[in-house]
Amino acid sequence: MPKTAAKSLAPRGRAGADRERGRRVLLVVTGGIAAYKTPELVRRLRETGLAVRCVLTRAGREFVAPLALAAVSEDKVYDDLFSLTIESEMGHIRLSREADLVVVAPATADILAKLAAGLAGDLASTLLLATDKPVLAAPAMNVRMWEHPATQANLATLRQRGVVFVGPEEGDMACGEWGMGRMAEPETIVEAVAAFLALKTTGPVGALAGTRALVTSGPTWEALDPVRYVANRSSGKQGHAIARALARAGARVTLVTGPVALADPPGIATVHVESAREMLEACERALPADVAVCAAAVADWRAANPARSKIKKTGRPLSLALAENPDILGTLARAGARRPRLVIGFAAETGDLVANARKKLAAKGCDWILANDVSADTGVFGGDVNTVEFVTRAGTESWPALSKDALAARLAARVADALGSGRSAKSRKRSRR
Ligand code: C5P
Repeated sequence: MPKTAAKSLAPRGRAGADRERGRRVLLVVTGGIAAYKTPELVRRLRETGLAVRCVLTRAGREFVAPLALAAVSEDKVYDDLFSLTIESEMGHIRLSREADLVVVAPATADILAKLAAGLAGDLASTLLLATDKPVLAAPAMNVRMWEHPATQANLATLRQRGVVFVGPEEGDMACGEWGMGRMAEPETIVEAVAAFLALKTTGPVGALAGTRALVTSGPTWEALDPVRYVANRSSGKQGHAIARALARAGARVTLVTGPVALADPPGIATVHVESAREMLEACERALPADVAVCAAAVADWRAANPARSKIKKTGRPLSLALAENPDILGTLARAGARRPRLVIGFAAETGDLVANARKKLAAKGCDWILANDVSADTGVFGGDVNTVEFVTRAGTESWPALSKDALAARLAARVADALGSGRSAKSRKRSRR
């Protein structure tokens, strides 16, 4: 199947703006009747400054003309895995990785099943399997297909792997039935994309100038003996993203991180620690700060008496005595005169999310808690997506599914609002002398 050349049809002018912003969406259009709305979706995505490249499945071609998508995207439309031209110009791996976000709209029951099962029989499913970028899907299908346990199981699997969904909505369907299954409207999909990529919340550049921030990130490792340790699965992605967002907003950031596979963020003073007690010490040394964000997954316990030499097998069960670790968030929140003006924690909960977050807010004495539900297989650990309830003494906000960078930018904006024009930790330190 030939690729569709758009250059001669395309209106000129917007391409420059797209290039300036440099963010790219790969839109995979599959074979639902709602595909007829995708030229409008492309147009609206491009109005936000995004570049859009389209992939069309064989069934999708029945509902929308490749030339229409080529014209509005000002790009080729890719529609055949085995086209030699595509493979030489732009392999499907590159196609799937050059985007910041892959959007599947409409996402049929078929493509969701393929993605859940890991099938790769055409260009769309292959690139969805090959991509290392977040995927946002707008399902569209008949209500019975939507409600079918197979579809629901596929959705649960995909959510667990970090796929973000927008819609479907309830309403009349093209097939004459009524119910859940209509694709979300283009403007709703654009909103979800904009929130996800933080298009409107790239962070309050400069709003935190003159302030100091302390961020903890990653896991802690608690030694059992010289070669073994107890740890957890925290990747540090969220904590590092928060450090970057606060720095972008102008704060002088100290990042105290446990062992992670991430590079130190450029321009940020990064202190590497292993254990919870080392992390607490490094945090105390980093004070005063105007804001502390405790995103680290600190081990609650450590070995009470770590062995000085490697523990040997004896053929009998081994019992380990554990001692409780210091609570870094609680310690910072109760640091008296040295308490940062704003102390923020995270809470990974498996039930009663908001009630438990409220209890934690009071127990730890912090100001805000970002609570994630880790019971619903939300793929938070190690993934690029986070969905939180933002809990303060004043109330609770449900934030939408966001990339970890977008969540960090949104949090930095809230920190800047809260700290307002108050004096910085530096000026308070000076006035105490
Ligand atoms: O008590 P829990 O582990 O659920 O609380 C999570 C929050 O507390 C996170 O913000 C985490 O960084 C912080 N925490 C801490 N020190 C600990 C345990 C948790 O700072 N020892």
